[in-house]
Amino acid sequence: MTTTTTLTFQLPSRCSDKMKMAMIVAMDEDGFIGRGNGLPWKLASDMARFKRLTEADGFNSVIMGRRTWESLPDSFRPLPDRVNIVMSRDTDWSGGGAITALYVGRAIEIAFAEGSDECWIIGGAQIYEMFLDRVDEIHVTEVHTKGSGDVRFPEWDRTGWTQNVIDSSHPDEDNEFGYTYSVWTKH
Ligand SMILES: NC(=O)c1ccc[n+]([C@@H]2O[C@H](COP(=O)([O-])OP(=O)(O)OC[C@H]3O[C@@H](n4cnc5c(N)ncnc54)[C@H](OP(=O)(O)O)[C@@H]3O)[C@@H](O)[C@H]2O)c1
Repeated sequence: MTTTTTLTFQLPSRCSDKMKMAMIVAMDEDGFIGRGNGLPWKLASDMARFKRLTEADGFNSVIMGRRTWESLPDSFRPLPDRVNIVMSRDTDWSGGGAITALYVGRAIEIAFAEGSDECWIIGGAQIYEMFLDRVDEIHVTEVHTKGSGDVRFPEWDRTGWTQNVIDSSHPDEDNEFGYTYSVWTKH
């Protein structure tokens, strides 16, 4: 009697041979990004841009820290249409709909293996710090207020970076503060 064995390989649904890595952050003029475990402001149009950029065509990953994951409202967890990669040192931690990464290299590996075109580093402070020297594009919304939080963006030496101002806005009914949105690129 002949026995036939069928081997099945699990391939990523889409393969990207080149994955772009970028960071996105909103900070006030003092570099604050968070208060407690939330954002210090309500900026609807900036949130809409965050969604548009990080979702793009639906083949992107986002990497975030466990505290940022926990700050997301249940209805936005996982962030839809993106591979959600959450960094935690706790080997027992899991978040429904997220893939856990225990170290930086693993987080990048997961994004690549998922076939992402773009991998966005979305915070918070601890995660920004670990990835700052691994990205060459940072999307910064500078919120025109000061002293708004207790969590700060890490020290960032902008020598060697070029700012391209894309858009600025004044406060209105949907946006508590004015802001300037720029893309910084390393040269
Ligand atoms: N303004 C913005 O654009 C923006 C964006 C995102 C977040 N935020 C704000 O930032 C604040 C959260 O930032 P945060 O710095 O407190 O926390 P975080 O960076 O979101 O998460 C920190 C957690 O990441 C995990 N982690 C850190 N280093 C790691 C490593 N080397 N390997 C594996 N896991 C690691 C640890 O999880 P375990 O403790 O589970 O080990 C740590 O507690 C909140 O206020 C949030 O609202 C602001």
